[in-house]
Amino acid sequence: MKLQGNWNYPTTIWFGSGRISELADACSNLGIRNPLLVTDPGLATLPMIAEAISANRSAGIGTGLFSDIKANPNGANIKAGVKRYNSGQHDGVIAFGGGSALDAGKAIALMAGQSHSLWDFEDVDDNWTRADGDGIAPVVAVPTTAGTGSEVGRAAVIVDETSHRKVIIFHPKILPGIVIADPQLTVALPPDTTAATGMDALSHNLEAYCSPGYHPMADGIALEGMRLIKQWLTVACNEPENLTARSHMLVASSMGATAFQKGLGAMHALAHPLGALYDVHHGLLNAILMPYVVSYNRVAIEHKMQHLARLLELEPAPTGVDAVLAFIVEIRHQLGIPRDLKFIGIDAGRIPAIAEMATHDPSAGGNPLLLSKDDYAELLSNAINGVPQI
Ligand SMILES: [Fe+2]
Repeated sequence: MKLQGNWNYPTTIWFGSGRISELADACSNLGIRNPLLVTDPGLATLPMIAEAISANRSAGIGTGLFSDIKANPNGANIKAGVKRYNSGQHDGVIAFGGGSALDAGKAIALMAGQSHSLWDFEDVDDNWTRADGDGIAPVVAVPTTAGTGSEVGRAAVIVDETSHRKVIIFHPKILPGIVIADPQLTVALPPDTTAATGMDALSHNLEAYCSPGYHPMADGIALEGMRLIKQWLTVACNEPENLTARSHMLVASSMGATAFQKGLGAMHALAHPLGALYDVHHGLLNAILMPYVVSYNRVAIEHKMQHLARLLELEPAPTGVDAVLAFIVEIRHQLGIPRDLKFIGIDAGRIPAIAEMATHDPSAGGNPLLLSKDDYAELLSNAINGVPQI
């Protein structure tokens, strides 16, 4: 079967190898004549960016470039991008890259025509209604990693340099109008990044599935996303050029972000402050935290884990939570991911403050158990010290 298709949920997705050649058409379909392509400094030097800009220009779509963003993009990066957007009289954004570039591009599109500060649109209550919807630029998203799923998300994670917090910025209109999902763009990803981003995708699907609440559509997507990741993540790491594996991982990543409209949980509630404070890769943090969080949530998710274990064909023994824990530990081992957080060097004295930040993270509300500051402190200590031994 040819792994190609045009899909229309949660947004328009043009999926398939080689479809980056349709970038100019995507811009035209959204009425964009002069886009600003937002990417990261590493990708900006690669031929894929130069080729995309050159192909656009040949098709009459003059395209500017902005790549001055950090690995965890911050408020100053977004301000600089908006300045470039306005000075170049751009009329849309191409968000091209991994999670950092996609989030930065979406935030720049949001802020292109606003009078409020970026932080006024933090994903709390109905803050997003403060935004002038007409001031939000259209976005074409081109993911180059399989993990964040930000290409189908309505949020952008931006670091507030003053408070050292990762702030989730939300507006429904920053959901990209068209996604070009071309697995060919992901084959150059090194195995460690493939592993970390793939585990981020697994964490999205798993946390969404575990999140309480009635949302069978999200649950169905999350379950199939996890099945694809179990089958294909290690293949993508071991055979970087395997386009079948890259295709399935790319769609599983979009599926994770589609499913987590339902909610995330304690992995992300802890990964956000840890990422902001210690600048460790987001996917790697989730991968390490994953078994500790699943174990901590055990009493609330046993039934769901029995279902998942059957779907992933993890049984007959062990069952439920234990089967899923064994699977997570095994895949982490195969991918060379550390067992605990010791290598970060977290000062024990900072644990209460990080736990406090986790309780306020918007992801915390999706956890199957409502965890207190003390719970998060215990959970984080578990993940630092490798306890219980998993
Ligand atoms: Fe994530």
